[in-house]
Amino acid sequence: MCGIVGFAGKEEAAPILLDGLERLEYRGYDSAGVAVLSEKQGLQMKKAKGRLKVLRALTDDGRSLSGHVGIGHTRWATHGEPNDVNSHPHLSQNGMIAVVHNGIIENYLEIKEFLISKGVSFRSDTDTEVVAQLLEYYYASSGDLKSAVYKMLHRIEGAYALGILCVDYPDCFIAARKDAPLLLGYGEGCSFIASDVTAILKYTREVSYMADGEVAVVSASGIRVFDAMGLEIEKERHTVDWDVSAAEKGGYAHFMYKEILEQPEAIRKTISPRLKDGHVFFEDLKLTAEEIRSLNRIFIVACGSSYHVGVIGKYNLERLLRRPVEVVLASEFRYADPLVDEHTLVIVISQSGETLDSMMALRLAKKLGARVLSIVNVVGSSIARESDDVLYTWAGPEIAVATTKAYSTQLTVLNMLGLYFAETLGTIEPAEYAAIVSELQALPARMESVLENTEPIQYLASRYFNHDSVFFIGRNLDYALGLEGSLKLKEISYIHSEAYASGELKHGTISLIEPGTLVIALGTYTPLFDKAMSNVIEVKARGADIVALTTESRCADMAKTAENVLAVPDTHLLLQPSLGIVPLQLFAYYVALQRGCDIDKPRNLAKSVTVE
Ligand code: G6P
Repeated sequence: MCGIVGFAGKEEAAPILLDGLERLEYRGYDSAGVAVLSEKQGLQMKKAKGRLKVLRALTDDGRSLSGHVGIGHTRWATHGEPNDVNSHPHLSQNGMIAVVHNGIIENYLEIKEFLISKGVSFRSDTDTEVVAQLLEYYYASSGDLKSAVYKMLHRIEGAYALGILCVDYPDCFIAARKDAPLLLGYGEGCSFIASDVTAILKYTREVSYMADGEVAVVSASGIRVFDAMGLEIEKERHTVDWDVSAAEKGGYAHFMYKEILEQPEAIRKTISPRLKDGHVFFEDLKLTAEEIRSLNRIFIVACGSSYHVGVIGKYNLERLLRRPVEVVLASEFRYADPLVDEHTLVIVISQSGETLDSMMALRLAKKLGARVLSIVNVVGSSIARESDDVLYTWAGPEIAVATTKAYSTQLTVLNMLGLYFAETLGTIEPAEYAAIVSELQALPARMESVLENTEPIQYLASRYFNHDSVFFIGRNLDYALGLEGSLKLKEISYIHSEAYASGELKHGTISLIEPGTLVIALGTYTPLFDKAMSNVIEVKARGADIVALTTESRCADMAKTAENVLAVPDTHLLLQPSLGIVPLQLFAYYVALQRGCDIDKPRNLAKSVTVE
């Protein structure tokens, strides 16, 4: 959740750290801090509650701190309220060691008590401070920083990505990782660490991904990496091909808006390398036809919007494969004793590839003998690395906390996977297969046409932005679509919003409908269009304001009952949610804009949830 960046080189570290933190601010933004080291001035640290701009002002954009080695942090509070003291870095008692941390130290209370009994006094309420204090404690007795770091790592439990500075070592800093993302960056005469590659993309594309238990010593002349036993190892290097401009706003007011507009292109990039002569193929898929045939059950496991992709996937995959497909929240799956064996495929969907619950669900599935295939956006991320198979979504960096283009590309990959499996299993007629493939190819252009006509959505947002409760209703794929539409609205506009399967209205929800309640009625799933209409009539009779979403072919029918109708082009039934989601994303965006919300960084949320 928090963002870490570290630099060692010839240039002044602080401005580079601030620049990196700015790109990581989506990971956490309740406070930020930097610490730099120089031989003359020792360790200098500045940290402050609030957005990065506060820290920028405090440090004169980094110019007030002098040193060529440093670490920085942007925080999403877990232990201790967001304030100046709880911000990272945290110092050890004698001020010689500074630490930044992402993750949670689960046994911090026990260590804190132990250190207090040794006379150590603590300044903050954080779990992180014990890392700095414990390290000082071990370092004081051994005088050897590396061995003190290993001792400290053996003592702490939980998840961590750490950056550590020590005044006795002014030319380098130390990094360590377990169950929280951290990568190493190799520049010209300089080296980096970062939670996410976007922080350092401006400086280098050469990276290595740290594995659990590894420790790195980072200096301007290079990076030495040691395994959990302390033995030096060679890390494989990867070249990141993300375009730096993709991680910048490029003139748009918000990343979210830019990323909504990028969806057609992202889908094109996701589809085109995987279609050949009218057939879906996955170059890197290791799963064989025989293995696919031996599967008797599929689980889709994910969190947040990725889970909502999975809900659509359940409907589509069951229809295409005639196999049971279950979709389970990763946070539930991991504690549910799931019925998984070697004939089960577990599909883990994750934009970041770092969501802790999804990661733990993956490990459990593997332990139980399942085959794991992940759909991930971030190359080299933890989930990608631990999966048996990984299919990447080529969405490029997604910065806004509320996902849009990652959601759309995940959905596209999952639908393509369904087609691929169905052809392998012989559960789809060739004509149906060809029809879906052809609609898949037409999807980006159809999406572009939705994006060209945003005024009606903007108008509806300006009409309804001050409602305090919204219901999304729909059946089948429209229900799944409503889940995501509702999440988008609530996360960025803070309006209470719920999604219901329309059939459940009469079992409780309808009692909440009163004159002026806003109902977003989804009627893009045409086989159940008449039922969608009946539900519109029901809620209208109770005085609800209706915004209906349907397809162009049903628009006129819907307009007979609903006052406000939005329409998207018709496409193959299975792909319809890929178009339906766009007006819902835009509606959420424009409503949040009207309400003056912080769209890219909604309160209390972080993009990459690396804690439980
Ligand atoms: C956070 C993000 C969501 C995302 C969810 C799962 O809540 O704000 O946009 O859907 O995590 O993240 P993942 O990276 O696993 O897709």
